[in-house]
Amino acid sequence: AKDPVRVLVTGAAGQIGYALVPMIARGAMLGPDQPVILHMLDIPPAAEALNGVKMELVDAAFPLLKGVVATTDVVEACTGVNVAVMVGGFPRKEGMERKDVMSKNVSIYKSQASALEKHAAANCKVLVVANPANTNALILKEFAPSIPEKNITCLTRLDHNRALGQISERLNVHVAEVKNVIIWGNHSSTQYPDVNHAKVVTPGGEKSVRELVADDGWLNGEFITTVQQRGAAIIKARKLSSALSAASAACDHIHDWVLGTPEGTWVSMGVYSDGSYNVPAGLIYSFPVTCRNGEWTIVQGLSIDEFSRKKLDLTAEELSEEKSLAYSCLS
Ligand code: NAI
Repeated sequence: AKDPVRVLVTGAAGQIGYALVPMIARGAMLGPDQPVILHMLDIPPAAEALNGVKMELVDAAFPLLKGVVATTDVVEACTGVNVAVMVGGFPRKEGMERKDVMSKNVSIYKSQASALEKHAAANCKVLVVANPANTNALILKEFAPSIPEKNITCLTRLDHNRALGQISERLNVHVAEVKNVIIWGNHSSTQYPDVNHAKVVTPGGEKSVRELVADDGWLNGEFITTVQQRGAAIIKARKLSSALSAASAACDHIHDWVLGTPEGTWVSMGVYSDGSYNVPAGLIYSFPVTCRNGEWTIVQGLSIDEFSRKKLDLTAEELSEEKSLAYSCLS
């Protein structure tokens, strides 16, 4: 039998946490034959609720779940973890300035970075979900210099999956038959959902989504805005933000990172930019990536037309600006 993998979920008493921990305990993140030990962190006001989640995990009698640590102590939470899913953060409340929210998250991610650096297992893989996800991941990277930068990522897989879902509905094909959409940039409304390289797998071979949809107006307009604003549409409908889809996307992200992407398929991940596609180096930016042997690689050589170029640059500008704002909170 395999040794258990320790998976940290911060903000585990929250909405996404509640959807995510049972998925992990059922093998949706690391596979159906991989035992796990869950480390759940939240803050003292949520300690009782966190303990309730722990009780439910016991009650669910998951065969793969070999242990549960539920704590408000960051060091205890981070000790020995192989995978860290950072869902905890400070939400923007009505009337709050952007800078105040940024400042709270910068201080959270700075201190959690140090705890992970000192106490996590070597080669721990980190996924930041909490918003502003890209910039929280960047702060985590800056304050955990001994964690390789390739191990620090943020979640844009939800946006990627939303794009697959929209194409699948439009073409009336199953979502598993759609592949290779791309989310470029920030997990925010400036993200660019790109279908120029997307394909539908049909019995007669792969066909391009652009050819099949044949309505450039929709692809260049409503499709993009629907994906960009899907989060807001969910809040409007549910009066709560996306949770089950976010949790599922977090599982997909780690699953593919650890176990690999299928041949001929890429996914979107927020990763540390090396300057590929003329995206400024030193931002956490969402790119198309393939994964193998536990490592991601940015897909190279895709053609970028003028329409796309503008959108790649716009979301990079927003991220550069967020980066400056985050740094201004440090001093
Ligand atoms: P929530 O408010 O239900 O849960 C957040 C939890 O984090 C709470 O239990 C809170 O007590 C905890 N928390 C706050 N500060 C903490 C700290 N310093 N350490 C540990 N835990 C802490 O929020 P929800 O709906 O679960 O969303 C979580 C985050 O995920 C939010 O920032 C949200 O904006 C973001 N999100 C990101 C998505 C993405 O695709 N990247 C999609 C959906 C949400």
